[in-house]
Amino acid sequence: MAFTFFFRDSHTLERAVDFLLPQVSGNSKIKVWNAGCAMGPETYTFAIILAERMNQYAFNNVLIEASDIDETENFGRILTEGFYPESDLKRLPEGILGKYFVNSERQGFYRVVDKVRSRVNFTKHDLLTLKPYGSGYSFIICKNVLLHFQPEQRIEVFKMFHSVLLPGGLVTTEQTQNLPDECSHLFKSMATDAHIYQKIG
Ligand SMILES: C[S@@+](CC[C@H](N)C(=O)[O-])C[C@H]1O[C@@H](n2cnc3c(N)ncnc32)[C@H](O)[C@@H]1O
Repeated sequence: MAFTFFFRDSHTLERAVDFLLPQVSGNSKIKVWNAGCAMGPETYTFAIILAERMNQYAFNNVLIEASDIDETENFGRILTEGFYPESDLKRLPEGILGKYFVNSERQGFYRVVDKVRSRVNFTKHDLLTLKPYGSGYSFIICKNVLLHFQPEQRIEVFKMFHSVLLPGGLVTTEQTQNLPDECSHLFKSMATDAHIYQKIG
């Protein structure tokens, strides 16, 4: 099972939303790609952060396309169904459990509320094919994935991200992942306290 948890590095996701919201204000469609989403805690964390910071009308325009190589063949089902064991939800910030999860018919499991689940899709996708999953993204989240790749592969993945982002679109990576020098003409850094890059061009 991939290592992941709810509200992991939520500071970076919150900072990205600071930059994202003014850019997408008034858009009828706001597409986000969560590449290497594992079984969904990161995807739903980001969706919940957006739900907390957008009005319902604007939030309904959000589509988060979650993807993973999913070697277990299980992530898509877990993410789409949105059932998570109580033990996974122990460290949620105050107030989030009651607002975004409901007791489910499955003993010991909570389910992500429909309002949030309906904003998320899953597709199995291997980043190293370098074939983009989609296009027209305002934001790409790819955290704790690139560290598994070779330096040349990271460069190609960043180039692919650049090709599918809207002008001014954002990408975020794990805290240990610097933008490769070979991509410095493609993205500029947006923050000193989080790895968030904005597409140039
Ligand atoms: C450590 S988990 C990170 C999950 C989540 N992004 C987070 O930060 O909590 C790494 C994920 O990357 C996925 N992954 C690894 N290689 C991949 C590839 N080539 N294409 C897509 N996903 C990949 C793994 O299946 C795993 O779910």
